[in-house]
Amino acid sequence: MPKRSFGFIGFIGGGRITRIFLQGFKRKGLDITGIAVSDGDPKILQKLVDLFPEIRTFPNDNTGPASRDLVFLALHPPAIADVLREIKDKLPPTSILVSLAPKWTIEALSKGLGGFNRIVRMIPNAPSIINKGYNPIVFSGNLAKKEKEAIKEYLDVLGDCPEVEEAKLEAYALLTGAGPTYFWPQLDELRNIGQSFGLTARETEKALSNMLKGSLKTLFKSGSSYDDVMNLIPMKPLGEGEETVRRLYREKLQELYGKLKG
Ligand SMILES: NC(=O)c1ccc[n+]([C@@H]2O[C@H](COP(=O)([O-])OP(=O)(O)OC[C@H]3O[C@@H](n4cnc5c(N)ncnc54)[C@H](OP(=O)(O)O)[C@@H]3O)[C@@H](O)[C@H]2O)c1
Repeated sequence: MPKRSFGFIGFIGGGRITRIFLQGFKRKGLDITGIAVSDGDPKILQKLVDLFPEIRTFPNDNTGPASRDLVFLALHPPAIADVLREIKDKLPPTSILVSLAPKWTIEALSKGLGGFNRIVRMIPNAPSIINKGYNPIVFSGNLAKKEKEAIKEYLDVLGDCPEVEEAKLEAYALLTGAGPTYFWPQLDELRNIGQSFGLTARETEKALSNMLKGSLKTLFKSGSSYDDVMNLIPMKPLGEGEETVRRLYREKLQELYGKLKG
């Protein structure tokens, strides 16, 4: 029998991260029946219902999900101000709001909600879809220890859920939230190349997975410096492009970080 370890749940915004969470919950056997999801786009909601027929949808009405015990705010930062105004009188005083967005601090969310201060912030990570996310979390000061434990227990099904300092969440948004998008295209290209060289898909994926596990440990855990680690291999087929990639990371991520913190 699937269990639901938290009360009634709502999602405001029915996009990618909502799908990721619903799939992650379902994969671990949690009951998602009746979970309320709103979105401005009925087509987005229909796509969710096709995947999860047991949810309840609220096209163009965020007050349905907002009246639940645990309310996920699954919106991009620019959409948040209007939605806070829309839901602030609908949130039950005993509910807990979990914002999945960067930029909006607990203080700003609370102000937008007229002082409501039972707030959690989390920066999710897409591998939560297979319960392997790395999802840093912050609780507002007034939540009781038991409530924090219950939320953590619930969200832990999506992967690691470390408690971090709020000021660091935007750094996590760019490292872990967006992180898969830096590596997935490179791994996809290597997977294609491996197969063009005659390896099977299985052989390619196994080789890349194991190579990456060992490479991460060598870089982060062996105690060797970066230069020493790089010097373990004499050939560097992509060496001339390396500075371009490093510059791209520095420029793009610093620009985005400035915007998230601005
Ligand atoms: N996806 C990830 O892996 C990931 C990782 C880290 C953090 N996050 C955070 O999660 C939040 C949501 O991201 P996402 O990936 O789910 O984005 P998304 O796929 O674009 O979904 C956002 C959804 O919210 C809807 N929306 C916009 N305004 C709304 C309103 N007033 N009322 C109800 N729904 C509204 C959007 O509809 P329209 O498209 O019609 O505007 C869209 O369907 C963001 O803050 C993002 O930074 C996501």
